[in-house]
Amino acid sequence: MKKIIIAIDGYSGCGKSTTAKAVAKGLQYTYLDSGAMYRAVTLYFLRNNTDLANSEEIINNLKDIKITFHFNEAKGIQEIFMNGENIEAEIRGMTVSSHVSEVSTVADVRTAMVDIQQRMGNDKGIVMDGRDIGTVVFPEAELKIFMTADTTIRAERRQKELLERGERISLDIVKENLESRDAIDSGRAVSPLKKALDAIEIDTSYLEFKDQVSKIIELAKERM
Ligand code: C5P
Repeated sequence: MKKIIIAIDGYSGCGKSTTAKAVAKGLQYTYLDSGAMYRAVTLYFLRNNTDLANSEEIINNLKDIKITFHFNEAKGIQEIFMNGENIEAEIRGMTVSSHVSEVSTVADVRTAMVDIQQRMGNDKGIVMDGRDIGTVVFPEAELKIFMTADTTIRAERRQKELLERGERISLDIVKENLESRDAIDSGRAVSPLKKALDAIEIDTSYLEFKDQVSKIIELAKERM
């Protein structure tokens, strides 16, 4: 069977990552969470007070960041490391979430991330989720999915996730963060979030998780 690339894009909090992970598991493919990479860069910039208007500083900082992914057998999840430090928990919090979209508008940041993502997809057999995977990172991907969901439903899901991580945030604030990220992600000059012309749209508002996963696996198998 031919190995393919599956690109999953969409708005914040649609369940792209959980879906992509389950699809990758079902197909025994590699999963890559591109959002985690932008979150890692954001964390580094926050810690170093990087000036987003200073291109030289940004390029120098980017050279100092080494991002790797490791599978945690005990938890059964893939975790992200920055320069050897496990930053999985820290990047999911509200502080990074509040700054990540602004950092993701920076062209030099995008160029560096896209380069790593394309190299990781070289051998195919990969499911990658993000905002520009079907349009910029892998415009030739065999299967492109564009996920959407009602904003309140997305906010409720994200709020629950944050609570599970110990952060109690009001629904209004979570919703505001999702809407503001969507606006910045869709409105930016470089690689804005948009549905690729050949992407298949899936609205996950009222879909059972297992159904959306099996739908994507079925679509993938048709293309192998
Ligand atoms: O997917 P996640 O919500 O973790 O992504 C965090 C942020 O990273 C997004 O809101 C977006 O600003 C940025 N991002 C991006 N391009 C990607 C993936 C994420 O700009 N491919």
